[in-house]
Amino acid sequence: MKELIDTHLKNYINDPKPIDTEKVYTYESVESLKYFVHCFYESLRIEPPTVASGGIYTQDETLPCGLKVKKGDFMAINIQSIQNDRNEWFSPEKFIPERFDTNSPYYKRPDGKKRNPLSCNPFFGGKRICLGKTFAETVAKFVVPALLSRFNFEFVDQDYITGAKEKPKVNLGMDEDPVVLLKLTRVNLKKYL
Ligand code: HEM
Repeated sequence: MKELIDTHLKNYINDPKPIDTEKVYTYESVESLKYFVHCFYESLRIEPPTVASGGIYTQDETLPCGLKVKKGDFMAINIQSIQNDRNEWFSPEKFIPERFDTNSPYYKRPDGKKRNPLSCNPFFGGKRICLGKTFAETVAKFVVPALLSRFNFEFVDQDYITGAKEKPKVNLGMDEDPVVLLKLTRVNLKKYL
């Protein structure tokens, strides 16, 4: 990922110094960060910020599965569980961005069949789709490469790197925010020149 961004930056820098961020990060240039988009979606799949939708039925209804729901019933879609379904995803607990690459074998279900189009829905869908979806997708393509090109990020607690400890999950439904300390060091921008 870091190498990809480094290459990307080098391709866009012709001037000796300083880095002209307006030239590097244009709408067109970030569009070429395909692997970044796979990483973005894999992050949202494995650890969705919105773990479940919310919703109240406004009329009596029979769902396609036969379940009858009444007006006023509360029903939530468990986004976290859907996105970690073993029938749809190879080793769902592993971070594998290639799952979103149409050329990768991970793009398919473990049984080799096509994945259900609703198996990854971090922004929900239909009439209830997130209003900020395109905004969030676009902003991430600018902010994450900008940060990664300037800083190295390291977990302070080495156990998260060795796998001895599992990083606490972070999402909107939490009562307390877990503390995960990161050490930031500046990247020497001269390497791009
Ligand atoms: C990675 C970032 C984001 C994720 C994963 C996300 C996810 C979601 C989800 C799952 C819902 C549906 C909830 C439900 O119906 O129960 C939702 C709704 C919504 N989101 Fe986001 N969201 C993100 C960023 C944003 C941003 C940046 C904005 C605003 C700029 C935004 C504004 C909204 C609004 C207004 C709704 C309600 C839409 C409606 O009910 O018509 N979201 N979001």
